[in-house]
Amino acid sequence: MGLLVKNGEIVTANERRIADIWCEGETITSIGENLPAPEGCDVIDASGKYVFPGFIDPHVHIYLPFMGTYAKDTYESASKAALVGGTTTLIEMCCPAKSDDPIEAFELWKSKAEGLSACDYSFHMGVTRFDENTPDQLRQIVEQGVTSFKVFLAYAGAFAVDDDELFRTLQLAKELDVVVTAHCENATLVSQLQAALLAEGKTGPEYHEPSRPVSVEAAGVQHLMTFAELTGAHTYIVHLSCEEALRAALAARSRGVNVSVETLIQYLLLDKTYAEKGDFEGAKFVMSPPLRDAKNQSVLWNGLTSGEISTLATDHAPFDFAGQKEMGRDDFTKIPNGIPSLEDRVNLLFTHGVQQGRLDIQKFVECASTNAAKIFGMFPAKGAIQVGSDADLVIYDPDYRGTISASTHHLNIDYSAFEGWPIEGRPAAVTVRGEIQVRNGEFVGTVGRGQMVPRKRISDAG
Ligand code: URP
Ligand code: ZN
Ligand code: ZN
Repeated sequence: MGLLVKNGEIVTANERRIADIWCEGETITSIGENLPAPEGCDVIDASGKYVFPGFIDPHVHIYLPFMGTYAKDTYESASKAALVGGTTTLIEMCCPAKSDDPIEAFELWKSKAEGLSACDYSFHMGVTRFDENTPDQLRQIVEQGVTSFKVFLAYAGAFAVDDDELFRTLQLAKELDVVVTAHCENATLVSQLQAALLAEGKTGPEYHEPSRPVSVEAAGVQHLMTFAELTGAHTYIVHLSCEEALRAALAARSRGVNVSVETLIQYLLLDKTYAEKGDFEGAKFVMSPPLRDAKNQSVLWNGLTSGEISTLATDHAPFDFAGQKEMGRDDFTKIPNGIPSLEDRVNLLFTHGVQQGRLDIQKFVECASTNAAKIFGMFPAKGAIQVGSDADLVIYDPDYRGTISASTHHLNIDYSAFEGWPIEGRPAAVTVRGEIQVRNGEFVGTVGRGQMVPRKRISDAG
């Protein structure tokens, strides 16, 4: 038994070459030319195709009680969709309510994945309250290989931490040698601006962006950076959407603050005019931070090509249009926030980045896979094609032409923000630790094959 991937062009962050890859069990054990195919092994002919390391989405929501409802996907639907789209590992946000016990919450989130995930996964542990028990509880969770926390500076009255909690979380993260990921928007400013807009009768989805303007996001980043500077913690800004926020992060980095930046496929390709669509269609495009003025898109693309921005994620947060987004028909502050895109991230980035000449193909691999593996302690098991790495491979057909549609996607959502968008390329086959999970756009694998990836702490990540 074993798997031989023949004649593909291997593209990783640091090399491009045509070669065969031999996988034994779950691991890549040999890379070379004209490798023999032992009797009975699986063979994938990758001629004319790229072979990428499995893609990693470092920011996903699957089980998410939020804004009076629950996100729609299950691990089964989300992981199948992820794999069909080339994502072999995802990191989900474990988001306890303030009143939840963190250990119980972590066990609950894990139980949603166990036996149901077809792809590998991990969690960022949400810290939504910090009391005298928190350090010990978080220590126990970190010991299970969950080496990053998540804090929200936004969502007042729900997930948001106060400054005391933020400081203590960062201090603890520094001590435990783990990363703090953060949603950066100033919660007070959002609440005040929302109230003012509603008082003026401005209730539609088009007012979501004005209620959280770029200055609110930049203020959030600036705030986190000050706390990071004074605690020495390693920070990671999730879903950065605009130039002002990027400038604040880069200014901090230039004075020695440890900060990595993530942006999303939605911010590269969609802009705030989508949330202005009539007949409440705009609600499909409500997320936080909001879609921005289109002028930010070139800044974000440039950030990816220059390396100022490390990762490209989805912040997949799936709420149906019918019955869920509609909860905010008379009040945009009640529209569940999120634009699902887990299935389409890689193909959209390949189409609009690589095929359209905006993103070098190796940079594409870096920001959609390798950098997340490095930042979050999974490299080189994940994010690499080398002897000893997990046999997570995406055999990618750049000549495929197709169209995105909710009617054909594997997600459990009734709409796609990218309905009718053409794609130029898709995975022809996807493997997870040596087992073929996808062929020609269809899931052919095993639900429950996915495992929680034990992640290293910062100093061990190298
Ligand atoms: O709109 C968003 N981003 N929804 C998911 C929750 C979050 O803030 O990440
Ligand atoms: Zn967020
Ligand atoms: Zn999120």
